Amino acid sequence: MSPDPCPASGLIRPPAQRVAAEVNGRYYDICIGYDLLATAGLFCQELGWRGRCLVVTHPCLSHLYWPGLEQNLCRHDFSPQLVLVDEGEESKSLTTAGFLYEALYRTGADRHTPILALGGGVIGDLAGFVAATYQRGVPLAHFPTTLLAQVDSSIGGKTALNYHHLKNQIGLYYQPSLVLSDLGTLSSITARQIQSGMAEVVKYGMIASSDLFAYVESRAQLLLALQPEVLQHVVATCACIKAEIVAADERDKGQRRLLNFGHTVAHAAEAVSNFSLTHGEAVAIGMVVAARLACRLGMFSQEEASRLVVVLEKLGLPTVLPPFPAGEFMAAMQHDKKARNGKLSFVLPRRIGEAVVISEVSPETILQEISR
Ligand code: GLY
Repeated sequence: MSPDPCPASGLIRPPAQRVAAEVNGRYYDICIGYDLLATAGLFCQELGWRGRCLVVTHPCLSHLYWPGLEQNLCRHDFSPQLVLVDEGEESKSLTTAGFLYEALYRTGADRHTPILALGGGVIGDLAGFVAATYQRGVPLAHFPTTLLAQVDSSIGGKTALNYHHLKNQIGLYYQPSLVLSDLGTLSSITARQIQSGMAEVVKYGMIASSDLFAYVESRAQLLLALQPEVLQHVVATCACIKAEIVAADERDKGQRRLLNFGHTVAHAAEAVSNFSLTHGEAVAIGMVVAARLACRLGMFSQEEASRLVVVLEKLGLPTVLPPFPAGEFMAAMQHDKKARNGKLSFVLPRRIGEAVVISEVSPETILQEISR
């Protein structure tokens, strides 16, 4: 599905959209629109859920959304229990997972007790991991509140924890039963977080849809201003693309690897910058490196590489890697989860809207490209 472009028209909010996701014969809805959290209880009830449920979020978000969410869940036959975890990557730990297992136990949760993950990527990864492992799996719904989570991490079932220096290396695939992307929640995140999510939007344009890319090119300012119709069109289009890719390849063996466009360099850039670059900023830089490498290999045109740089700049994203120690950068790339025998698979664009996975790229080749 590819929603038609909507003309910008003030602040009128469009009706919510639904994207049907399917993974190995299991179906779930991804709903994108405004004021969805206010009716979350109804969405959950429609899944046949009722009674106890655990809402996992962090204090700032609970302050904003818990009163309305609790009221609506209670109105639809739920006895919701709120569990707060600290904001930030540190919460993606075995310790915090243990804290959530305890909370589930104390609540009297059984294997039908749903976990509702209200937050960005950290909450989604953590709550997803706990849902996948408590009593070998309890139902899960994602209520993503960042752009990055709405267009990417809440869809497709990846869950993850960090373990000491191993970032995102502990995890499993576990599909949610529902994703509710309430676009109103994006008004409460920082401009930098919005820009960071935009890098993933551009990624979808680059790997799968020249129409999406052109749409973002021509409406970058409206998007950054969160113009409702433009924003909803873009989030729904990204959700469609991601759902289609995951339906074809849940376990990252084929097509799903395209979602890694820009990410090999990005993960290393995040690490060597000591996470002063956000994930999206690092992905923006990584996509430009990949595009330049593709140009050098004669696979991609300079004109299209320039369009990529220009759209990222319009979205306020960096396109050049800050100075870094080459040795550290190489080491960080070699630890990429997708590395095989020291060689990396690297996603390169062929044209805007189409990319391919190239196996066995040596980290030296990438480093050469970065150092040019
Ligand atoms: N975020 C990339 C993936 O879900 O595969």
